[in-house]
Amino acid sequence: MTTSSGPAIVADLLSDTLTRPVPAMRAAMAAAEVGDDVFGEDPTVRRLEARVAELLGHEAALFTPTGSLANQLGMRLHVSPGEEIIADSLAHVVRAELGAAAVFSGITSRTWVSRGGLLDPAAPLDLMAVGGGPYQVGTACVVLENTHNFGGGVIQPLAAMEQVAAVCRAAGVRVHLDGARLWNAHVASGVPLAAYARCADTVSVCLSKGLGAPIGSLLVGSAEAMREARVWRKRYGAGMRQVGILAAAGLYALDHHIERLAEDHARTRRCAEALAAVAPVVDLDRVQTNILVLDLSDTDWQATAFVEAALRRGVRGYAMGARQVRLVWHLDVDDAATHAATEVLRRLLVEGPGSATAGATEP
Ligand SMILES: Cc1ncc(COP(=O)(O)O)c(C=O)c1O
Repeated sequence: MTTSSGPAIVADLLSDTLTRPVPAMRAAMAAAEVGDDVFGEDPTVRRLEARVAELLGHEAALFTPTGSLANQLGMRLHVSPGEEIIADSLAHVVRAELGAAAVFSGITSRTWVSRGGLLDPAAPLDLMAVGGGPYQVGTACVVLENTHNFGGGVIQPLAAMEQVAAVCRAAGVRVHLDGARLWNAHVASGVPLAAYARCADTVSVCLSKGLGAPIGSLLVGSAEAMREARVWRKRYGAGMRQVGILAAAGLYALDHHIERLAEDHARTRRCAEALAAVAPVVDLDRVQTNILVLDLSDTDWQATAFVEAALRRGVRGYAMGARQVRLVWHLDVDDAATHAATEVLRRLLVEGPGSATAGATEP
């Protein structure tokens, strides 16, 4: 593979959204039975929705084109215009959905700061404002994220989520769980999906990341909530027709690609350990799933220069901050690619930005 402008890519670690459907998934898509999903008549979509609702222990599910839409629908259900959500300052809903909750739903937000995305229950519970009355904005919904993307794929402790859920329930505050990578949390921790999902009124999950489907997410919740979400999905212009073709990819992914996430986790870990051995750029305790965030603060590298040098050697990553680089493992990165990428990254760290070979094109 090459990028449009150039170097051959040996390992594309930009994101787990890059996965391409495998031939058997494409075959399942081609064979899918379909109908008009706006009328609830696509049998494959219905099967997918029933399957995911059951897996997550909720009454019903709704198929959406993106995880962002599933999150937006979840928050929309729980929060009236002018009320607020509270979330981690690095949460996808506040950092990477382009203000959608404010734009579409009039939702305001406040954030707590965590150590690398890891949930400390005290943070949301201290920030929560219940019964603000006519003066203060009231918290209508706490948004949790598991695993935490910009936090480097950390898994939220179930006990912490349960504690937040219990306090919120007692206070009449809703919980939405952004579970785009809940599959990864489940496979790495062994905690059942439904145990995590029980902590929230609505949960979004993505099929289009580590699970390898080309598109698709689901929102789960009560049957009544999903009826309402279906109306809002259509209102947002995302009522879809014969999308059993896409749901079939999702069903294939659930059958074949959940357990294999452990391979991505093992490869991420292997790379992290090799890099930690040569430079203080990784906290190995925080490498728990398929995301590796390198903190270059104690090296001479800036993130952008590091990412550019790695790309010249065929490894694509993402400069997440001035000194942070994110690398994500997925279905299309095998052992050989992991080995090659590790070697490239290791050499860059050992040689530093000033080295004559930092821009070499050979891995
Ligand atoms: C944690 C998290 N939530 C939600 C999303 C949104 O998914 P989508 O790109 O399908 O809108 C992402 C995408 O990367 C994500 O990482």
